[in-house]
Formats: sequence, C-alpha cells, structure tokens
Amino acid sequence: MDEWIDYYDSTHTIYVSRLHRDLHFEAIARDIIGYITSPDAVVLDYACGEALSAAKVANACAKLYLAEPAPGVRGRLIARFAPDTNIRVRSLDDLKKMDANSVDLVVMNSVAQYMTPEELDSAFGVIHRLLRPSGRFVLGDVLRPEVGMIRDVLALLRFAARHGFLRDALIGLISTALSDYRQLRTRIGLQRYGEGEMIAKLRGAGFSATRAPRNIGHNPWRMTFVAQH
Ligand SMILES: C[S@@+](CC[C@H](N)C(=O)[O-])C[C@H]1O[C@@H](n2cnc3c(N)ncnc32)[C@H](O)[C@@H]1O
Repeated sequence: MDEWIDYYDSTHTIYVSRLHRDLHFEAIARDIIGYITSPDAVVLDYACGEALSAAKVANACAKLYLAEPAPGVRGRLIARFAPDTNIRVRSLDDLKKMDANSVDLVVMNSVAQYMTPEELDSAFGVIHRLLRPSGRFVLGDVLRPEVGMIRDVLALLRFAARHGFLRDALIGLISTALSDYRQLRTRIGLQRYGEGEMIAKLRGAGFSATRAPRNIGHNPWRMTFVAQH
C-alpha cells in the first residue's frame, strides 16, 4: 500500500517527541541485537524506517543492510550512515538483485500491517531467497485481529510513563487523532493476523515459524514470529 510509504516519507508525527523517537529506535536496535548470534553475521533490516540506532546493530555484526522503500527516508539513511562502512542502504527492489543465501538474520519490524496480504507474500519470497538455510527471519510487531487501537494507546502511555514523557505522549495522542495517520488508519486500515494465520502464511512461503515469547519494541499486545527455512 503505497499510501503508507508516502506517509512514512512525509514529516509525520508518529513519534510524539524526539525522546520518544530516540527511545523507540534504541529499543528496536537492542532487540535486533538480541537476535544476532555471531559477530560475523550479515543482517538485513527490511523497511527499517529512520533506524536511528543502526550503528549499534552494525557494531554487533559484520554487515548491516538497511532496506527502506520511502525515498526521502532512504536519502537520510545514506547521509546518516555514510561513515559506517559496514552499513549499506538499499531500496526494496535492490534486494531482488542481491545474492541468494547471503543473509543470516532478516528483521521486518512493524511493517506487515502496512502491506496488503499479497505484498507481504512477495516480501516473504524475497526474504526466503536471501536467507541462508541456517539463518532466521524475525517478523515483529504484528497486529492481532482481536486487539484494537486502545491497546496501542495504552502501550504508548506505559512506555511514556516509564521514560518520563507522559505529557508529550498525551499531546501527541491528540495530534495523532487529528492527523493523516488517523485518516489513513480509518480509511485503508491496518492488516491484522491471528497467531495461527501468520504461522500458516509463513509456512506457505516456505518458512517454519513459531511465535516468540516477547514482541520486539514496547507493545506487548503485538506479536513477533521467528521463522527459518
Ligand atoms: C512503523 S515504520 C517501522 C520502521 C522500523 N522497522 C521500526 O521498527 O521502527 C513502517 C515502515 O514500513 C514501511 N512501509 C510502509 N508501507 C509499506 C509497504 N506497503 N511495503 C513495504 N514497506 C512499507 C515504511 O516506509 C516504514 O519504514
């Protein structure tokens, strides 16, 4: 759904403050690092967004590919990580030209909800080709059908209270309620999958998957799956 890519390419207000944005990317980086099993690993972050803490991930592996569909975001990634020689920025199309069986860990976090089921299947196909047989594919922050927007609000407020930005979060929630995000979320919606449904979808793409005990990031009501060939 290209409208979500355009949204993420715009000056959006998904993060309520700089502190929220920075803490978000620190938490994601920490969780990604937790899935890296060797300093020699080649890692791919599929639709990485601003990936502000990617240097930390890159320090824990041999090479980090940051793949992002939004061209403006990608331009900033290229500028930001130019000094980091083991970080490479790619478009999603570029991934189709990379060598098969060349990546040890693929992470796709908080992305599946913005794709049509068909787009997600074709992304799974690209990832399956890139992943080494010994590698792992971590699919994080998947929304479940039975959990609505109120839990997203609660998760943000809990995260904010823990890190001292509750006031900004409350202001941010009001502006989000009036924003393009809310309009898009109401108009085109977000894709949701049950646990068994996602495991079956991954199986259809050639992966055997299980649900991880903990979701990546701060929202405990969303799901993470770990998949292998
Ligand atoms: C919430 S951000 C997640 C960024 C990062 N992975 C993280 O965990 O913070 C959603 C990302 O999905 C990308 N995206 C949105 N719609 C997409 C689509 N239809 N196909 C692929 N990527 C998409 C956006 O460009 C953005 O980078």
